[in-house]
Amino acid sequence: MSGKGRAFTGFFGGARYDRFAALFGMKAPFYRKALGPLALGAGERALDLGCGPGPMTVLLASRAHGEARIWGIDLSEEQLAHGRTKVDPSTCPVTFLQGSMDELPFPDGHFDLVMTSMALHETPPPVRRGTVAEVARVLKEGGSSFSSTGAGPAWGSGASSGFPSAAGVRGTKTTGTTSTPDSVANRDFFPRRTATSIP
Ligand SMILES: C[S@@+](CC[C@H](N)C(=O)[O-])C[C@H]1O[C@@H](n2cnc3c(N)ncnc32)[C@H](O)[C@@H]1O
Repeated sequence: MSGKGRAFTGFFGGARYDRFAALFGMKAPFYRKALGPLALGAGERALDLGCGPGPMTVLLASRAHGEARIWGIDLSEEQLAHGRTKVDPSTCPVTFLQGSMDELPFPDGHFDLVMTSMALHETPPPVRRGTVAEVARVLKEGGSSFSSTGAGPAWGSGASSGFPSAAGVRGTKTTGTTSTPDSVANRDFFPRRTATSIP
């Protein structure tokens, strides 16, 4: 899938990716910050875009109802194969699929949650734009999305330490669009959270 973004393979793929990511602070606390209080109830479905070997995918699975379901999609089969080895069979079903985040093989309104961490910046602008449209398409009305990325060290803030700090954008789908985090719907879903900082 050329032109879709940087597929992490070889030196940067699979088990090596984990070690490399840890050097940049992308460890469990980073993903716990990114997910915040999110969990999935019975029958709910979530999708992780550019999931890599699934650090956030499997964390969400660990706190999901057994009848929820989670998919991760990534360009790199090497990342996905490593992710499959991390799935705990006692959690809800988790499926890792090869593909690009701007061409999702799912019907409209399929997901309660679409999330992504540290991946959008690996794609060229047309893919990012296509991804936003796809997220709006595959989310259910009232479904939620968030994008988490590294914000660099938050020196001296007291609220966050280490690199990277988790920062991102959260939104709730209303009437066919993904709202900005200032919308009333978003405040209802994530009280006292803002677009720029996930404590
Ligand atoms: C920095 S890694 C982040 C992986 C994981 N989300 C995490 O937090 O560790 C970026 C991932 O995005 C994937 N990627 C790049 N372009 C993509 C695209 N168009 N669609 C799906 N995955 C993509 C890469 O293969 C890589 O696994």
